[in-house]
Amino acid sequence: MDKEKTLQRIVFLREELEKHNHFYYMLNQPQISDYEYDKMMNELILLESEVPDFFDINSPSQRVGSDLNAEFRQVSHRYPMLSLGNTYSEEELREYDKRVKKIIGSDLEYVCELKYDGTAISILYINGELTQAVTRGDGEKGDDVTANVRTIRSIPLKLKTTGVPEEFEIRGEIILPREGFMKMNREREERGEFLFANPRNAAAGTLKLQNSSLVSKRPLDCMFYSLHGRNLPYRTHFDNLMAAGSWGFKVSEHITRCNGIEEVLGFIRRWNEQRNSLPFDIDGIVVKTDSYDIQEELGFTAKSPRWAISYKFQAEQASTRLLSVDFQVGRTGAITPVANLEPVLLAGTTVKRASLHNAEQIQMLDVRLGDTVFVEKGGEIIPKITGVDLNRRPAGSAPLIYINNCPDCGAELFKDEGEAKHYCPNEFGCPTQLKGRIEHFVSRKAMDIAMAEATADLLYTNGLIKDAGDLYFLQKEDLLRLERFAEKSAENLLASIEDSKNNPLSRVIFALGIRFVGETVAKRLSREFGSIEELAAAGFDKLVSVDEIGGKIAASIIQFFQQGFNIEVVRKLSIAGVRLKEEKPEGAMTSGKLNGLTFVVSGVFPNFSRDELINTIEKNGGRVASSVSSGTSYVVAGENMGPAKLEKANKLGIPIISEEDFVKMI
Ligand code: IVH
Repeated sequence: MDKEKTLQRIVFLREELEKHNHFYYMLNQPQISDYEYDKMMNELILLESEVPDFFDINSPSQRVGSDLNAEFRQVSHRYPMLSLGNTYSEEELREYDKRVKKIIGSDLEYVCELKYDGTAISILYINGELTQAVTRGDGEKGDDVTANVRTIRSIPLKLKTTGVPEEFEIRGEIILPREGFMKMNREREERGEFLFANPRNAAAGTLKLQNSSLVSKRPLDCMFYSLHGRNLPYRTHFDNLMAAGSWGFKVSEHITRCNGIEEVLGFIRRWNEQRNSLPFDIDGIVVKTDSYDIQEELGFTAKSPRWAISYKFQAEQASTRLLSVDFQVGRTGAITPVANLEPVLLAGTTVKRASLHNAEQIQMLDVRLGDTVFVEKGGEIIPKITGVDLNRRPAGSAPLIYINNCPDCGAELFKDEGEAKHYCPNEFGCPTQLKGRIEHFVSRKAMDIAMAEATADLLYTNGLIKDAGDLYFLQKEDLLRLERFAEKSAENLLASIEDSKNNPLSRVIFALGIRFVGETVAKRLSREFGSIEELAAAGFDKLVSVDEIGGKIAASIIQFFQQGFNIEVVRKLSIAGVRLKEEKPEGAMTSGKLNGLTFVVSGVFPNFSRDELINTIEKNGGRVASSVSSGTSYVVAGENMGPAKLEKANKLGIPIISEEDFVKMI
């Protein structure tokens, strides 16, 4: 294709992809299959790499983010980001209305909006393009999180319509819809990572990740609620929001103009009842005066505008009886007390169980068996017990006694100083922990062996496997002896186990279940060490010299490979022929042009993300190291290259090349 044609095709693909983003993320009505979408995206990425001077940070191809670590820059807000005054009762709201009417002297037109429960963002658009996105921070200054915000598919990068002010800020709430939140937490649980308490924490935590490619994998969304700028089309808040909706921003269809306080109260009552029907959490209603002239007249107090107020919903609460308490053992040995309750309806679902978190919480609440307890759902997925109705305590009840021994294996529990949870120390003997580790090993993101949790349990309980390594020595006859298996299902399982031997090394590392080693860290370790043997032999200093590996992870890896049980698992995997060494870097080799060369990559590059560059080096036979040493062949330097690396490379006389030089090499 000549250059002119390539450029035309790029423009076409960018527009098509943005259009389909809109169908998918804004309208929830995909018009093409994921496959067709990915095909167009791959073509765009390829063509864009052919004409680097046509790079556009706002191209849909950039939505995947980059895994460059970047400290956030602090940016001053042009318009301060204030908070809202809160009310909790209709009474207080009526008083607010009276105060406002007294100042204005007439009835008011209000706008009622849902109060989205997420984290605030202010986004600057110049000439229709997303230019900067800043968190609320202290209201005066916030963090520049533009790279992260660009990855949120429902936020437009370029506005398509005319009549948009040349420069304006739009503010909204970054949220994590409930479904995406639950999925994310389920996956985190599978990987043994900590769980987010609620969608709000998860959204705020994600926005502050210093790796936008991770952000791009989380299903964030954004609901917009205000516009700021000199040339907004209208002098009323409602009309401007509706205009923003027509420019491509996600503005809720539930925003309503209300004439007077009674209509406002009607809106609040309706949403108090219907809030659970929304796909995301709200924690109240925001009431704003519609006219900008009136807003100016009302002005601000020190902290918040007088022209708006929020009505906060009561956390939904129910009371029911505590029947018993179970103590659950997790894969890592952590003990969680769980209350069994008399079923009760709460926020649209029947609640039978609630977390009691830990021993301290039980002691603090002084919950006793037979007590009537209050249960709340405050955005969290698992309801919690927030108190006891002492008036209804049965006579003769006694404080709950926390267990001293593991409910599964009987080992004496321990609790580290400063930790809230008790742990079962019997890492290699406690059946629940052992089964949990096998379940993790076979899970989809690990070795992806087609085996249900119940099957792992069955194989373990029948003594066919003691650890993940034993899976590879299962015989068909062994399986057929179990009731669950027939000829076909036994063959399928064995075939799936056999297939898993060819999984890339990174999956094996992840599957081993080393504490704090999630999928991303496993990939990094695989790339850096290339084999389990090298990884197991690496000392602390070597481990922490790898990007993203801190002391906590390094110590955990070292400890893992010191334990006989784990060494034995790895030995079994090795005998079975599971891939424990990456012959070639992950991904097919495209050439051997860089064979024998070691590269260090540093800085930000115009055309490649850091990961793409590393992949390209490895696919062409080169090796990538994280620090400059005498063994380094080249340093590929981008903008803002680390000064220490530069100095060391200069001192050792190692050639420093640009991205362009590198492209020429391959
Ligand atoms: S208007 C002067 N509208 O609530 C502040 N805020 O407590 C004007 N929020 O930080 C904010 N939904 O992040 C407004 N429909 C809505 C909102 C909303 C959620 C958040 C916002 C703000 C906090 C104020």
